[in-house]
Amino acid sequence: MVPRYLINFNSDKLDKITTDVVVVGSGVAGLSAALEISKQFDVALVTKGELKETATWYAQGGVATAISPEDSPKLHLKDTLEAGAGLCDRKAVDVLVSDASDRIGELIGLGAEFDWQGDRIGLSREGGHRLARILHSGDATGSEIEATLIRTANAWRSVQVFEHRFALDIVVDGGRCAGVVCLDEKSDRLVLHLAKAVILATGGAGQLYSVTTNPVISTGDGMAMAYRAGAVLADMEFIQFHPTALDEDSMPRFLITEALRGEGAYLRDCRGERFMLGRHPLAELGPRDIVTREMIRATQRCGGGPVYLDATHIPKDILEEHFPTIWKHCREHGIDISKDLIPVRPAAHYTIGGVKTDLDGRTNIPDLYATGEVACTGVHGANRLASNSLLEGLVFSKRIIEAIKTRLTTGEESSIQDVKLGFKMARSKLDLDFKKERRWLQKLMMDYVGVVRSESGLRHAMGELKKRDEVLKAEFSNPAGFELQNMFLVAGLVMRAALEREESRGAHYREDYPEASDGWIRHLEHRFVEETIAG
Ligand code: FAD
Ligand code: SIN
Repeated sequence: MVPRYLINFNSDKLDKITTDVVVVGSGVAGLSAALEISKQFDVALVTKGELKETATWYAQGGVATAISPEDSPKLHLKDTLEAGAGLCDRKAVDVLVSDASDRIGELIGLGAEFDWQGDRIGLSREGGHRLARILHSGDATGSEIEATLIRTANAWRSVQVFEHRFALDIVVDGGRCAGVVCLDEKSDRLVLHLAKAVILATGGAGQLYSVTTNPVISTGDGMAMAYRAGAVLADMEFIQFHPTALDEDSMPRFLITEALRGEGAYLRDCRGERFMLGRHPLAELGPRDIVTREMIRATQRCGGGPVYLDATHIPKDILEEHFPTIWKHCREHGIDISKDLIPVRPAAHYTIGGVKTDLDGRTNIPDLYATGEVACTGVHGANRLASNSLLEGLVFSKRIIEAIKTRLTTGEESSIQDVKLGFKMARSKLDLDFKKERRWLQKLMMDYVGVVRSESGLRHAMGELKKRDEVLKAEFSNPAGFELQNMFLVAGLVMRAALEREESRGAHYREDYPEASDGWIRHLEHRFVEETIAG
């Protein structure tokens, strides 16, 4: 039993802000959507940290786009479908690859700088891509894109930005999404953002795991909010692990981009052997799920020690020039990547499932849209192809805005009504150490719902989570508590889906069902039904 809202409220007593559109989240998906809609309509953008506190900022490798003469959207589509292991929505992938170069052109128009090689944009290669098609800005592509979008938002002054404003829940009134209830952390007051359309762009849920490349903001809030409001979530069992995070004790783990393997770096086990040879025709550049599982096997053969990325045969000037962030970070950790092996381990990296949308980002709740990592557009299937997600945010945010513009200009839209809503439920106040609870959940997920899963492990994890059920029902008053509740909710959905899918496919591997099964070429969906709503 999960309460419909995280907090009790009475809409009459809340501060209210009304705009045509509200965007929640300031990564590539949210910022690009907000900028585009602001050309014509009023928009408020709320984000729980500072603008740049996003997964987008950390993106390294780049953006996949078929621009070289040897490449084509068709080939990009082929690689995406192959990585997706039978579960991609072909129409969504078609949209992704066809709209890619226009979206990149617009980004360059805003001032984003990608690396050039001579008179052409330089392209690198990553796992699952048959040829070089990744546009990049050194190994810090995400921060280049995010900084460009923030600079544009500051220059245009057309987006009302609300930082440190935590979105708690989506308000549904008369069967349509009417706004978002937020906690303004600066004033500690609840604010109701009312709008004709709400766009969720809250990113993924990598923080469910103790070893992750995701920043602390990636707690699955948007998925939890949408679920509580009655939106359909899909493909939650597919959590992608990135094979090569630096093996250091940090949260988040520092990523060593796949582009380094694209440049020729090898994976070696503790005996120095290249264990990917013979395991996949693309060796180190095979799909992430395959490389990740082989790494775990190699680690086990080595008695639990790390495996290594070996870039020592790549010329030093290339390493320094193409991978300056990695060069510097490793240097600070005593590793000279031109001479030393880099210890690496897999880390939770990308939430493939999420809020189910159509090709224009619509959810099943009228006027609620989702874009970026929070969404499940169907482009990634069971396993996301590297460097397709920044692109997904750009492409689908643009389509959402076109859909909203049509709706708002054809007079079809409802005017913004002042909602009269409230939620009241008696709840216990738990005195919890939120950090400790979060770590407990992250370890549980890592141990039993990670790269290799089994029925017994998943049932154990579900049992342990159930014992802490009171967390979901309690009343908290700060973001750490709300995030914990969202994480508990989303973790439960991942566990349920992982238990239900009795096969191995893409990012979901069950040691008790190690093969893919044709009967499972279908999607698992979750929806919060009325009977489970408390209060
Ligand atoms: P994010 O960029 O995560 O932004 C989410 C926003 O929502 C944040 O502003 C956050 O504060 C806000 N938010 C969340 N919850 C709330 C709430 N309750 N209230 C208010 N605001 C909220 N992909 C690629 O395509 N290429 C790459 O090279 C690449 N490299 C990566 C490297 C790393 C280390 C990581 C972690 C990911 C990488 N990815 C890459 C994946 C990609 O970065 C993300 O999928 C993408 O940036 C997600 O963008 P987004 O806008 O959906 O979410
Ligand atoms: C990387 O640079 O290896 C990450 C690319 C991605 O996750 O898409």
